[in-house]
Amino acid sequence: MKKIIIDCDPGLDDAVALIAAFGAKDLCVLALTTVAGNVKGPQTAYNARVIREVSGQDESVPVSEGAPQPILRDAVTAEDFHGSTGLGGIDYPDPVLPLSGEHAVNTIIRLCRDAKDAPLTLIITGPMTNAALALTMAPDIQSGIAEIVLMGGADTEGGNITPFAEFNIYADPHAAAVVFGCGLPIRCLSLDVTHGIRTTKARLAAVRAVGNKQALAAGDLLDASCKLEFSAKSDRDAPLHDPSTVLAFTHPHLFKGRKANVSVVTEVGEQFGRTVPTFAESGNVLWYETADDDAVFAALCGLLEGHS
Ligand code: BDR
Ligand code: CA
Repeated sequence: MKKIIIDCDPGLDDAVALIAAFGAKDLCVLALTTVAGNVKGPQTAYNARVIREVSGQDESVPVSEGAPQPILRDAVTAEDFHGSTGLGGIDYPDPVLPLSGEHAVNTIIRLCRDAKDAPLTLIITGPMTNAALALTMAPDIQSGIAEIVLMGGADTEGGNITPFAEFNIYADPHAAAVVFGCGLPIRCLSLDVTHGIRTTKARLAAVRAVGNKQALAAGDLLDASCKLEFSAKSDRDAPLHDPSTVLAFTHPHLFKGRKANVSVVTEVGEQFGRTVPTFAESGNVLWYETADDDAVFAALCGLLEGHS
């Protein structure tokens, strides 16, 4: 089994990523750690508890609430794209199982230290505040992390929150600079690749056709994502941002990119939060540029079938 922690800010697409990960037969999700991002911190933690139960999981997968605000900048949220609850206004039963009671940063540090003999993968689908704090508080945890797979950034596609910046980076650029600069192997799903993976009506129908409770829930979340995307600004189907991290982990052959060193613009100005990849074989970041989008959606359906 491949061990992962998912550090997230659910969020509609984060929620789909979680459901997909729980459906993967060869993944062991050690913990969900949450961070302020799409909505405020307590709400992302609540949403992670909701999705843990929708996915049929129990307290053996702890949910730890993390940083309630970014390291230096003022907090920003993204209700336009996720609705006021972060889950598109979809009505879920209140979760029964509680938070772990441990701070997310401490959960990350503890699990990474435990994993020194068999390093785990840290999947990040939100602002990188928790990861940056963990790497700063306990640099020794690097030996327990095989790689980081994250959703964030943009180069050729331009930003989605400003003309230059993608939301997860813009929401905490200083944290992103720590993570990209930590030297660990990173695989990055930026807008350059996720904008090429769209939730068309046919793909949404295929997700729903999987038919189990979790696939239907994923279908509702993707549908809400498309509706909010249209109403916010776009004339295109919603991109598959966060689930692409899980799919790049389970199906790496479906994604192609180049090695790079990635810097983050942290000076206040029009480029604040921009990611700048400098392509070099020696870079620590695999910056994905293309994906086989039909196959990615087929793989998503495959993971959802795992819940049957
Ligand atoms: C990213 O920002 C959030 O709104 C999504 O959940 C995703 O992680 C896309 O830019
Ligand atoms: Ca997210």
